[in-house]
Order: sequence, then structure tokens, then C-alpha cells
Amino acid sequence: MWRKLPFLVVLCTLLPSLVHCADCPERATNGYCVVENVTEPYEQVIFPEDERLVWIRNSSIPVFNRSLFAPLAPVENLMIHRLKIEQLDLDGCDKLDILFASYNAIDRISAVEGLPLRQLHLYQNRLTDVSALQALTDIEQLYLHENLLESLRLDTFQPIQQLKILTLQRNRLRTITAGTGNKPLVMPRLEQLFLQFNQLPHLDTGLWRMERLRVLDLSHNQLAYLLTFLEELPALRTLGLHHNPWHCGWLFGMLERLGARELDTDDGLIGMDDEASCPGLRLEDRLCCSENATTPDPVLLLVSRTGIVDELQQQVRGAKRRIETLEEAQRKQSHQFGELAGRLAAIERLCTERSMDNAS
Ligand SMILES: *[C@@H]1O[C@H](CO)[C@@H](O)[C@H](O)[C@H]1NC(C)=O
Ligand SMILES: *[C@@H]1O[C@H](CO)[C@@H](O)[C@H](O)[C@H]1NC(C)=O
Ligand SMILES: *[C@@H]1O[C@H](CO)[C@@H](O)[C@H](O)[C@H]1NC(C)=O
Ligand SMILES: *[C@@H]1O[C@H](CO)[C@@H](O)[C@H](O)[C@H]1NC(C)=O
Repeated sequence: MWRKLPFLVVLCTLLPSLVHCADCPERATNGYCVVENVTEPYEQVIFPEDERLVWIRNSSIPVFNRSLFAPLAPVENLMIHRLKIEQLDLDGCDKLDILFASYNAIDRISAVEGLPLRQLHLYQNRLTDVSALQALTDIEQLYLHENLLESLRLDTFQPIQQLKILTLQRNRLRTITAGTGNKPLVMPRLEQLFLQFNQLPHLDTGLWRMERLRVLDLSHNQLAYLLTFLEELPALRTLGLHHNPWHCGWLFGMLERLGARELDTDDGLIGMDDEASCPGLRLEDRLCCSENATTPDPVLLLVSRTGIVDELQQQVRGAKRRIETLEEAQRKQSHQFGELAGRLAAIERLCTERSMDNAS
């Protein structure tokens, strides 16, 4: 009964190796209480009480759900790597702050609303659909790399307003959309987004509103151009572009703009294409491009959206000036016509007077 003393609980957590903790069968050097050989029926498994850090090891748990989270209710930091989990139902883990569930075979995931989870590690699983994660609105770090995602709507993560880090590298992504319609995709706290090693042939960042995005890795995809030069990401400092079949014209413009921004090409651009693996041109000695890369039409069209707007405004101003000139000319002309008409009338009058004079 004295294991319930808060004092001992604190000691157990802070000084696990010095204090004998009746609740915990084995304490790992990293402070986690280790639980092994968890098998069905789970009701018979003895989980440590009042433990905040738990590491379940050497077990096979195909479905990890409320039945298992319930006896682990006080746990704040749970490690369930390598347990052959196929289905994960986040329910009943009302204190859980950090969950490590990587290196499993998870292909189904669900989550109830209102969980306080802030870090979720799900890399090396078999996920194809992560839309259930939008219930986890407190998440700050979400690790989804090395899964089987093929397409993704980024607005799935829009309810997660605290999200700072999102890893999606090494999936099979071919399509990433902002959402439906032309609604801006607002992710106000996102700082790092990893998309490298996917199969993206296109990526429209035009609707992205990520004021704090510092790191974006697009390397190792199939991109020939983007529809912008990433002006919509004002905080961008680090950008991965290498290993893509970039269109040379687009890449040239991009590098020029990166040079003009705080992001300088030496520190800001991560990675490079080496010369040997570059069949086309190499720009600034680091990035490979191909002069005949796919369809440069949008490149020409959107060499920069700002450029286009400027250009249109200039055209409108020019047209206005031309209209004013024409109106002015017309005013002058009609004035001249009036004058002319007046003079003609005068001449006519003179003629009439003369002829009357002559007649008389
Ligand atoms: C788990 O099972 C193995 C073999 O059955 C055993 O050697 C090991 O001690 C068990 N671990 C625990 C914590 O009971
Ligand atoms: C892990 O548990 C299984 C049975 O659940 C046992 O056969 C095996 O020996 C255990 N391995 C270790 C390292 O404890
Ligand atoms: C959890 O999964 C097990 C095994 O599939 C199942 O028997 C149990 O009913 C599930 N518990 C809940 C709360 O869904
Ligand atoms: C396009 O470029 C590749 C290599 O960069 C080359 O093999 C191919 O012949 C080119 N195609 C055309 C139509 O120029």
C-alpha cells in the first residue's frame, strides 16, 4: 500500500535505479518501466500501477485498443514499438502525452476526440489512410514517414492547429491536395514538413498558408516545376529540391528568387545532385534540371503569380492612359470641329452678306 505514496511515485520516476519500486517488474536504463509477454486475455496481464513511462516489449498485440489502454490509464509516455500491431484505436488513454507506435504493421487507426496527445510516432507502419488523426487536435509532432500513403488531403491536418512537425517522407505519395475548392490551407504553427522520397509529379502550394514553415523537403520526387516560387511561405529557410526532374527555366527562376530571399542557397538548400547522376544541366553546381522536362506551359503562365499581377496592373494602367489620351484627343477634335463649324458658318455668313451686297 505504500507504493501509492506520491513521494515514492516521484522517486520511482526520477531515480528508478536507486529506489525499489514494487509496481515495476523491470526498469530500463531510459527510465521506462518494462512490461513483457503481454498475451490475451489481457485482463490477466498485470500492468504496473501509477507508472507514467511504460515500455511494452516482446509481445504480439494485433489489436491495441481501449481494452489495453484502460489498465494503462495513468501512463503519459508509452512505447509500443515492434509488437506486430495491425489496428490501433486511440481511446481511453486520457493522460497520454507521447506515444511511440512505430515498427508495427498498423493499417487501421482510429482516435476519439479530446485526447491530450502531443507526440505521435507512427513511422514504419502500413497506413494508407490517416484521416482519423484529425480528432487529435493537440498534436504538435506527427511522424507518419515510411508508411503506404498514396494520396493525401492536407486539410486533414487543418484541425490540428498546434501541429509543428509533420513527416511524410518515404511514403508512396502521388497526389497531395490542399483540400476541396479554393479554400486556403491554414496551418499556422507548422514549422517543418517532410515530403522527400515520394512520387509526386505535381504539387500546388498556391493555397498553403503556413506562416511559420521553416523547413520543406521536396527532394527525391518527380517534380518538374511548382506553380509558384514558394513566395507564400515567408518563413522558409531550408528547402530540399534535389533529385527531381526540374524544368530548367523554372529551376533557374527558383534559384534566382531563393538568392534574393533570406534563404541563401548555401545554407538554405539541403542536398545536391552530383554531376555523375545528372543527364541534363546542373545549375549553380548543385541542382540538376532537364531542358525538355514535362510541360512548361504553367511555368510560362505562372513564372510568378506576383509577376503576372504586376504585369496585368501595368497593362491596365497603360490602357487607362491610352483611353485618357483618346478622350483628350476626342475632346480636342470636337472642340476643333466646333471651331471649324463656327468658321464655316462665319464664312457662309460672309458669303451671303457679299452676295446680298452684290445683288443690291
Ligand atoms: C517472457 O517470456 C520469456 C520466455 O517465456 C521469459 O524468459 C521472460 O523472462 C519473460 N519475461 C517476463 C518479464 O516475464
Ligand atoms: C518473448 O516472449 C516469448 C513468448 O511470448 C518467448 O518465447 C521469448 O523467449 C521471449 N523473448 C525474450 C527475449 O524474452
Ligand atoms: C479490443 O480488441 C480485442 C481483440 O480484437 C477485442 O476482443 C476487444 O473487444 C476490443 N476491445 C474494445 C474495447 O473494443
Ligand atoms: C530529353 O532529354 C533526355 C535526357 O535529358 C534525352 O534522352 C531525350 O532525348 C530528350 N528528348 C528530346 C525530345 O529532346
